[in-house]
Amino acid sequence: MGAGKTSAARTAGSLLGVAPLDADAELERELGMPIPQFFERHGEPAFREAEERVVGELLERTSGGVIALGGGSLVSDRVRAALRRHRAVLLDVDVDTAWQRAGGRGRPLARDRVRFEELHAERARLYQQAADVVIPAGERAALQHALPSLASLDEAPAGTRLLWATSASGDYPVYVGRGLVGSGFWPPAAGAAPRRFCVTDETVGGLYAEALGDLEALLAIPPGEEQKTLARAEEVLRALARAGLTRADQVVALGGGVVGDLAGFCAATYQRGVAVVQVPTTLVAQVDSAYGGKTGVDIPEAKNYVGAYHQPAAVLADPAVLASLPEAERAAGYAEVVKTALIAGEPLWERVREGAAGDEDDVIFACARTKLGIVAKDERDAGARQALNLGHTVGHAIEQATGYARYRHGEAVALGLLAALRLSGQDRLRDQVRELLEARGLPVRLDADPDAVLEAVARDKKRVGAGSVPFVLVEAPGEVRVGCAVPDAEVTAAVRELAA
Ligand SMILES: NC(=O)c1ccc[n+]([C@@H]2O[C@H](COP(=O)([O-])OP(=O)(O)OC[C@H]3O[C@@H](n4cnc5c(N)ncnc54)[C@H](O)[C@@H]3O)[C@@H](O)[C@H]2O)c1
Repeated sequence: MGAGKTSAARTAGSLLGVAPLDADAELERELGMPIPQFFERHGEPAFREAEERVVGELLERTSGGVIALGGGSLVSDRVRAALRRHRAVLLDVDVDTAWQRAGGRGRPLARDRVRFEELHAERARLYQQAADVVIPAGERAALQHALPSLASLDEAPAGTRLLWATSASGDYPVYVGRGLVGSGFWPPAAGAAPRRFCVTDETVGGLYAEALGDLEALLAIPPGEEQKTLARAEEVLRALARAGLTRADQVVALGGGVVGDLAGFCAATYQRGVAVVQVPTTLVAQVDSAYGGKTGVDIPEAKNYVGAYHQPAAVLADPAVLASLPEAERAAGYAEVVKTALIAGEPLWERVREGAAGDEDDVIFACARTKLGIVAKDERDAGARQALNLGHTVGHAIEQATGYARYRHGEAVALGLLAALRLSGQDRLRDQVRELLEARGLPVRLDADPDAVLEAVARDKKRVGAGSVPFVLVEAPGEVRVGCAVPDAEVTAAVRELAA
């Protein structure tokens, strides 16, 4: 309710040159009266029965075209089964916006705000499971821009899903699908197919570069965080120039976060900006770093200190390539999954908490959706995006205090999450998260001098210049607060506890 399905179906229909069908209108024709009236007279169970029959039949008999589906019809098994023949597009809307648009206007299930919120949460699970495509609601331009990518799913491996990413500086498709790398699929571009200049690391290049098909150039840097430097970026930029990269071409970043950040930075600065397609190959990159346009390199003084915001032209995330990822790297990515689930709340948090096996692709899709939802509101870290730093204040301090050598980024974030949950006063949640992290072999005890970590936190304080380090705190899964001041004594206790 309130996502704007009817008007989106009209827009899509007119762009595609087809007359859209509206499931609610079909239903009202069958019922012989408006839905609210039928609801009042016969009650919800009778309505759901009729809805299941009419909408089920509609989905079973139609092929092609555009259908606006009633919000509640997905509760029915028959409707969900019939929907699998089609491509389901979720118009993603948050509960506040949905209530503003639909609440208190006479719709039977949108009269009471508390009930409305419950219903929104219950249905979110069903919608997210059913969605092949997620597009932010209420943006006509987003829908229009997304249509060619939506149509391109016909050429992608079966089961590939699409997220439409929006941000102040531009929008782009994110494809998540098993088998994308090696399928020959490439995101559609306006005009002639661009030439592709691939930047990768030696490990990943050896495994997957060939699977990308025709490449104009292939540049492989040695693997590792220590390669994320200005010197390496200069080398890559010069190699790209020698290879003849122009603004009509694409840089392809094939690898983990290190390659994504470095190649993204090269793309952002080469001739003041060329297109980059991110092809993330680690869990960290597939759930986090490939999206949102933060690119950059480290300098000896600090990590990620030189960079640019540069949104990708597209992201292709293929969970199948994670099969070759060493277990410790996968675990490091899992820390970012837990972080994202704490920010997202239900239904993602429940899935991660219960460790549902076998649905890693789903979790990757849900994490990407969460991150993109935040970036859409705040591309440049002015407020909402800071939520993504949950666990990172202490996490970064740990990395710095240990010379970026003892812990992987995700491992340091795991410890940082535990500190953040203690500072949030979330003792039970902290225990739960500790168990999840430990089960994946992530560190839950700090093997370093806590005072050195506290010094690094204090240095961070000077950088912020505000007198206190702003922490991201958790009130509950799905409810995080950014920019929180925390007394020094509490920070000291939370970090010392990690080393105890
Ligand atoms: N830009 C952002 O928003 C953002 C967000 C989070 C992290 N980051 C950055 O990401 C970096 C960490 O990224 P990472 O954890 O992906 O590390 P990484 O890129 O160093 O990759 C980890 C290791 O795994 C190897 N590898 C990658 N994919 C593989 C595969 N499919 N099979 C086998 N081996 C594979 C790599 O060669 C490397 O040795 C950090 O520099 C961090 O600052 C950026």
